[in-house]
This record gives sequence, C-alpha cells and structure tokens, in this order.
Amino acid sequence: MYQSRIIGAGHYVPENIVTNKDLEKLMNTTDEWITERTGIKERRYFTEGKDTTSLMGFKAAEKAIQHAGIEKNEIDMIVFATLSPDYYFPGCGVLLQKELGLPNIAALDVRNQCSGFIYGLSVADQFIKTGMYRTVLVVGSETQSNFVEYSDRHRHIAVIFGDGAGAVILQRSEEKQKGILSTHLYSDGNLAEELYCPHPGTRLKNRITPEMITDGSLLAHMNGNLVFKHAVNRFEECISTALTHNQYTITDLDLLIPHQANLRIADFIARKFQLPDEKVFNNIQKYGNTTAASIPIALSEAWAEGRVKENTLVCMAAFGSGFTWASALIRM
Ligand code: COA
Repeated sequence: MYQSRIIGAGHYVPENIVTNKDLEKLMNTTDEWITERTGIKERRYFTEGKDTTSLMGFKAAEKAIQHAGIEKNEIDMIVFATLSPDYYFPGCGVLLQKELGLPNIAALDVRNQCSGFIYGLSVADQFIKTGMYRTVLVVGSETQSNFVEYSDRHRHIAVIFGDGAGAVILQRSEEKQKGILSTHLYSDGNLAEELYCPHPGTRLKNRITPEMITDGSLLAHMNGNLVFKHAVNRFEECISTALTHNQYTITDLDLLIPHQANLRIADFIARKFQLPDEKVFNNIQKYGNTTAASIPIALSEAWAEGRVKENTLVCMAAFGSGFTWASALIRM
C-alpha cells in the first residue's frame, strides 16, 4: 500500500461580502442574534455570470496546483464535493475537468454535504493507496446563497450559509509516517429529513409545482436544535476515534480543523477536549457555513498563516446533512 500526502491547498471566495447588517435589511434578524447564535459576522455571495460552483472550484484548484508546485497534467483524477452543483446533472467534476483543460481523466462527484470534503479526501486516499492513481485533485465548492430565501420564514437558515471553494492536491508518497493517517466515515439516513432540500427531487410525478414555490418546499429545511445536539456528539466521537485509532491522545494534536458549521459547536468541542484557542482553526466569522468548501478553505488559510507546517498533526472533522459525519487525521 502507498501513502498519500496533501502537497498543496488553495481557496477562492467570491468578492461580494454580505454582512449581518446587510441581512437586517432583508429579513427580521439582527447582527446581535446572528453573532451570538453562530459567530458569523459576514459571508460571501456569488456574482451571477462570474462565479459558479464549478468555476469557483476551478479557481481554488488552480491555486492548489500552484501551491503544490505540480503541473496540472500530473492530475489523474478529480473528486468534487458539493451539494449545490451548477446543473442537476452532470456533476461539477466534469465541468472542472473541462475548465482545467485536462485529458479524459476520471471525474467523480461526492454528495455528502458538510462531510463531503472528508468523504472525497477518503475516496482519493483509497485510489492512491491501492496504486491506481498517483495524484488526485479534491475540491469542495458551494453556491448556497441562491438555495435560501431572504425572508422571515427562512431566516434561521438564510443567515448561516455562504459561498466559496477550497481544493487540495493529494499525491502518492513513500514516507510511511506522513500523510493521511486515517479517515473515518459515518452516516445515519434515519435523520435525512431533519436537514434536507425536498424538491425538486424525483419522488413526485410533478417535480416542480407553483405550490412548491409558495409553500417553501423548494428551500432547504433544517431542524436546527436537533442538528446542533447531534453535531456536538458526533464531532467528539469521530475526533476521538481518529486519535485512538492512531495511538495518539488529544495533547498530541497540533491543529483541529472542524467543519465551520457554527462557532458555538466548535467552541463546545474545544472545551470538551480542553484545546487551547491556537489549536482550533475557525474562520466562520468571515465566510459563514460553506458546507463542503469549509474544511479546504480553512486548511488553505491555516497553511498560508503558518499554522500548518511540515509534521503538523491535523485533525479534520465534519458533520452535516444525511446525517453524515467524518474525520481525517493527517501528519503534514
Ligand atoms: N434572526 C433572529 N431570530 C431568529 C433567527 C434569525 N436569523 N432565526 C431564528 N430566530 C428565532 C426563532 O424564530 C426563535 O424565536 P422564538 O423563540 O420566538 O420562537 C428563536 O430565534 C430561537 O430559535 P432556535 O431555533 O431555538 O435558536 P437556536 O439557538 O437553536 O439557534 C441555529 C438556531 C440555527 C443557529 C442553531 O440551531 C444551529 O446552529 N444549529 C445547527 C445548524 C447547523 O450547524 N447546520 C448546518 C449543519 S452542518
């Protein structure tokens, strides 16, 4: 078996900054409520005609390729995680393959919402471990600002989500003690309808009706309290599993990169593990919850800030719709 290492990361966020004060003008909400409940101060929204999920993924990928110092033609496979693809089908992987101008390489889309990036990383890791591929591009990208409605009935969701993209280059390595040490992936479909977007799916003969527009069933639905309660427990479990599986304890960890769902969730986890602030990376204040993009954006920023270096022990953990949750332990 080969080992795989993350050799570069990059991210792209749209230039359009939307603050909590901006949202106050669109719905009955306040900067105080959003800050206290989520930690979010602002988020980015895509610009039509300029940003799409695949194009943001492309911009992040270009930066990751540059950071890794590889030629793009070295990439053998694309794994693209998103819940907000450009089209219902095909997925964004092929659009990114076209945009990068790569030959007919494998392009796979992952539909695991907030856990999508770790699921994608795990898939890429397996292809490298078995020797099938040498270099895999893993992308998380989301355009969620048009999934929400700027109204009082949707305010509990509208204020949380943002747009953006992050990417990493994963490559075969001969160094056994470094790279992706483990990934752990979980799901519980019993809770699928606690955080989901019901329509337009394929369950009904009429995939879209005028009623769906007025009754809000084209919008994302979220049982926020239930998501919160499950998230804190599942985060804790999968981080503990990642550490014990590799015979590490929490004191060995240099940096926790939690999926940026809610600052209160990240703070809860930090307190639970008694992790000091410098060992937990948070940027939700600037970007909101960017779902599959949140972890690669955070990794890219942490690397640029010097918080990720050679030998840093990083744990990534995510929880989201599905419900799905996952962790990855990485020796950089
Ligand atoms: N602005 C102002 N008030 C709001 C609001 C908003 N944007 N959204 C909801 N409220 C109101 C509610 O209507 C409710 O009012 P009421 O008491 O008069 O009925 C009140 O705030 C409390 O609502 P509640 O849903 O209990 O708040 P909460 O403390 O659970 O916070 C979330 C709501 C969504 C921030 C929180 O549940 C959460 O973060 N959950 C996890 C979500 C998540 O991470 N999702 C992504 C998974 S990856």
